[in-house]
Amino acid sequence: MMNETKTYQVITYGCQMNVHDSERISGLLDAAGYVPVAEGATADVVVFNTCAVRENADNRLYGNLGHLAPVKQLNPGMQIAVGGCMAQKDRDIVVAKAPWVDVVFGTHNIGHLPLLLEKARVEHEAQVEIADSLVTFPSTLPSRRESAYAGWVTISVGCNNTCTYCIVPSVRGKETDRRPQDVVAEVRMLVDQGVQEITLLGQNVNTYGVEFSDRDAFATLLRECGAVDGLRRLRFTSPHPAYFTDSVIAAMAETETVMPSLHMPVQSGADAVLKRMRRAYRRDRFLSILDSVRAQIPDAAVTTDIIVGFPGETEKDFQDTLDLVRQARFAAAFTFLYSVRPGTEAASMPDQVPHTVVQERYQRLIEVIDEIAWEENKALVGREVEVMFATGEGRKDDRTDRVSGRARDNRLVHVTVPDGVHPRPGDIARATVTYAAPHHLIADTGFTGLIRTPGGDAWQAQTRPAPVSLGTTIPRRA
Ligand code: 5AD
Ligand code: SF4
Repeated sequence: MMNETKTYQVITYGCQMNVHDSERISGLLDAAGYVPVAEGATADVVVFNTCAVRENADNRLYGNLGHLAPVKQLNPGMQIAVGGCMAQKDRDIVVAKAPWVDVVFGTHNIGHLPLLLEKARVEHEAQVEIADSLVTFPSTLPSRRESAYAGWVTISVGCNNTCTYCIVPSVRGKETDRRPQDVVAEVRMLVDQGVQEITLLGQNVNTYGVEFSDRDAFATLLRECGAVDGLRRLRFTSPHPAYFTDSVIAAMAETETVMPSLHMPVQSGADAVLKRMRRAYRRDRFLSILDSVRAQIPDAAVTTDIIVGFPGETEKDFQDTLDLVRQARFAAAFTFLYSVRPGTEAASMPDQVPHTVVQERYQRLIEVIDEIAWEENKALVGREVEVMFATGEGRKDDRTDRVSGRARDNRLVHVTVPDGVHPRPGDIARATVTYAAPHHLIADTGFTGLIRTPGGDAWQAQTRPAPVSLGTTIPRRA
């Protein structure tokens, strides 16, 4: 056991699943008696929660581990742990490249981290523990949430698809669904703690139910979570177009708390590319889903992920992607340069696209995405929007007196608030959009209807610092 209080820092890379896992890692370390390190100080335990989806995350990890080697030499009691998808994939490489690492733990072993740290300390030897499948569903672990008013709830982990570019199935394993009653119970518990907005998380949320053979399980779950008394906003990420059923659209449209925003990765607008990616839908099907969504949820803002330069992508294929962006009218899109992931099928495909070509296409894609996003935003000028003020974004900008938050459709809105009004994170108000930029809206008039968050004052009084997540690359929705 520890005789003095040790401090920790968690550094997160990658997606929202990792951000949420980091909340669990922090919660476990809290429960084991560690405390979060003060800003600027050196922690006794540094945990890297890594990502393997794209190559640059690998490079950043080894860069950061390199920086820590001399720090550790100066602080002999210090421990470094590496978890997450990269650790799962490259367990031996991590220890070989950075022998000063004390613990390597897999995506299924989060719960053992405190024990592994203790073992490494006692045995003076690096501990590597990677399970190939899930033992405890991660949501049964304690958690330290980054935000008081917004929370993540995991509904499934892993993925049964085999997209040829993607490393996820090999590091997160087959899809495991959490029982619906456990999901709803966690939503209820969070709402009881004052959480206003919940995002249901899964690699592939709409295949939820595959384990208990219920095709409509995700739609049912949306309705049940949405009905939890006191919850104001429900979101989910990410659905797969191939499994997006009408029952999900109906559940979204008919459940007041489910927000009119949909993040649905398309990856490419060219059928030939989708086929080689092994994405089981084609562009027409994707566009027809959007038509149905917009017919039933007219204000829905749709966002997506797009990969540029997948092996064999021709100029014509790329033009098809640009054309799809124009037709789909995305409110925002996260764009990725195709990154070779060793071990995936696409890594050994012929016709890898030269880097300069990929770069140039990427620039052109961003221009079209921004042009469409800006047009879509400009169409909102004059409209009243409901904004939930956000942590970090809830601070008043001294120069403009605006406070920031998210509209129901997840757009970022900077709102001018009347003198003497100080919205807190989680509070809701309405305001009128007066200006549109490609990635945000400004609402300078019409501030009205402020609804206070129950318990907001208590959160403001909380002094415990949130877990540190440096270098996080979670996309910010515009
Ligand atoms: N290269 C580039 N982007 C990728 N993504 C997943 N794997 C790769 C890869 N090998 C992107 C996809 C996915 C997002 C989370 O990351 O667009 O939706
Ligand atoms: Fe990867 Fe495809 Fe599964 Fe998404 S659906 S996690 S891209 S294999």
